[in-house]
Amino acid sequence: MVEMGQVSLHVDIAGLHMKNPVTVGSGTFAAGREYSDFIDVSKLGAVTTKGVSLHGWPGNDGTRIAETPSGMLNSIGLQNPGVDHLMEEDLPWLNERGATIIVNVAGHSVDEYAQVIERLENASLDAYEVNISCPNVDGGGMSFGADPALASEVISACRSRTNRPLIAKLTPNVTDITLIAKAVQDAGADAVSLINTVCGMAIDANTRRSILARGIGGLSGPAIKPIALGMVWQCYKAIDIPIIGMGGIRSGLDAVEFLLAGARAVSVGTANFIDPCAAMQVIEGIERYCVDQGVSDVNELVGALEW
Ligand SMILES: Cc1cc2nc3c(=O)[nH]c(=O)nc-3n(C[C@H](O)[C@H](O)[C@H](O)COP(=O)(O)O)c2cc1C
Repeated sequence: MVEMGQVSLHVDIAGLHMKNPVTVGSGTFAAGREYSDFIDVSKLGAVTTKGVSLHGWPGNDGTRIAETPSGMLNSIGLQNPGVDHLMEEDLPWLNERGATIIVNVAGHSVDEYAQVIERLENASLDAYEVNISCPNVDGGGMSFGADPALASEVISACRSRTNRPLIAKLTPNVTDITLIAKAVQDAGADAVSLINTVCGMAIDANTRRSILARGIGGLSGPAIKPIALGMVWQCYKAIDIPIIGMGGIRSGLDAVEFLLAGARAVSVGTANFIDPCAAMQVIEGIERYCVDQGVSDVNELVGALEW
């Protein structure tokens, strides 16, 4: 008999200790400040920050967001104020609150990714998530993550700069995601996170124009959950390193499905825009599931899918 408060929720992602298996999707939570009226960031398994580049990027022009059935398309273009801003403003704020911190790293070139990590090595943080999967930038992002050789090059360069846990964030916009997962594992990634957004488009028939200024954007939210679950399951069978699963998670049960498919932790992304407390509800929902199922340690659920 297990009761609420008695379930062990701690998970270990290759040396990244999370007090529960729930983090937030990079780019959907900024660095937490905007959510702090609703959420105590130290209660999350980790805060994953918005992608950060060396000198900051302005992001894409024009309309960047389109609502879709069961989801949204975005084309932000990795707007961010740069690594120095993150180190001066955001990391101290998160550290003061006792948050576990995953910094999401972006770059237009292999060297830029490596330089961002070099700068951050002096800062207090817990892990890096390397975004080789953004569909909304011209140089870098998904163009690295869709090719096993390039994905490997980026991860090797990052690996050579740090001993901290290194998570490679993968794109679903490939023919076989397991080839990329194996490539980054071989290049030294400690874990993978998946999925980033799925390429898509929205058109306004009345104006005969694309809603997003760039045409193609990234689809997220419940619409992509089955794609994400399938890919987590495929990767779980193909690689040995831990997986952080994401894509359309809104509830504790959604999260448990990802754990059963093989994820060791999960991220809540687009759901934060609908309910700023979503991540906390997911944590509670996982615990509730464990109590109902008599599971005393959440790690028992990882890959526990039955046939
Ligand atoms: C507005 C927006 C911005 C995002 N920015 C980033 C980013 O900076 N870096 C990154 O790796 N992923 C980014 N993502 C992808 C999310 O972290 C997540 O992988 C994806 O949205 C799927 O999860 P979800 O359906 O729960 O949102 C962004 C997603 C959205 C919706």
